[in-house]
Amino acid sequence: MVNPYYPVLLAAELILAPVVFILLFFITAPYGRFDRRGWGPVLSSRTAWMLMESPSLVLPVLMALRSSPNAGGLIFLLIWLSHYFHRAVIYPFRISSPGKPFSLLIMSWGFLFNMINSYVNFYFIFHMATHYDFSWFTSTRFIAGFLIFAGGYLINKHSDALLRSLRGEGNRGYSIPEGGLYRWISAPNYLGEILEWGGWALMVWSLPGTAFFLFTVANLLPRAMKIHKWYGETFSSYPEERKAIIPFFF
Ligand SMILES: NC(=O)c1ccc[n+]([C@@H]2O[C@H](COP(=O)([O-])OP(=O)(O)OC[C@H]3O[C@@H](n4cnc5c(N)ncnc54)[C@H](OP(=O)(O)O)[C@@H]3O)[C@@H](O)[C@H]2O)c1
Repeated sequence: MVNPYYPVLLAAELILAPVVFILLFFITAPYGRFDRRGWGPVLSSRTAWMLMESPSLVLPVLMALRSSPNAGGLIFLLIWLSHYFHRAVIYPFRISSPGKPFSLLIMSWGFLFNMINSYVNFYFIFHMATHYDFSWFTSTRFIAGFLIFAGGYLINKHSDALLRSLRGEGNRGYSIPEGGLYRWISAPNYLGEILEWGGWALMVWSLPGTAFFLFTVANLLPRAMKIHKWYGETFSSYPEERKAIIPFFF
């Protein structure tokens, strides 16, 4: 029997995605370049990133230990962890502004989202899916999804590394990023993240995978547009031909 929490949490994620998408055009999450007072207590950004992303690292592993998944489930777990080990453990230690204030409210919201999202994705993979056999992992759908995920992974990490390289000793300000996909767009790290979870949705071919992809777009597209606008307003020499998140298009 399906755990009754599963459909409720999945429905919540699917319903919240368009709500968040619309809200984020009116409210900008107060962290990073958009940090501002009036949002209650704050944490250091390093602590916030580690806490916020930790459910996506810990919960699927605990679920795997409890449910002894088959080889297909373990392959998806490894792919997922390749992203979340980096995001929850490596990224916070490499961040170029580790002591910057990060809203406790935003951290808590991210923590809750990561709990729900990891749970529904791995509940489906470990307890409901019956199609992850050998033929699935040699199918065009899985291979295409995996390649999109891997491409997004490389774009995301490379773009974040280019941003880090802008801040040397004593330089805590913002500069115009150059190189990589920054030649064409203002937020290639977000494009990479969206591609990763688009590839994931294709690979797992599940409603929770699709919900995660939609939520990532809802979360990152409005912020990418705001970042693009912010660059244009902050730097008079910002390249005019650069788009927000889709090269040559948008
Ligand atoms: N799956 C999701 O829904 C989701 C949601 C949010 C973030 N993420 C991922 O998490 C990562 C971080 O996200 P983010 O929103 O913090 O990205 P971001 O705004 O691009 O910032 C990333 C890092 O680079 C620094 N930075 C940004 N622009 C800079 C510039 N022009 N000059 C110098 N330093 C600059 C930032 O410093 P400051 O902190 O000082 O601004 C921050 O340390 C990204 O890979 C993103 O894809 C995923």
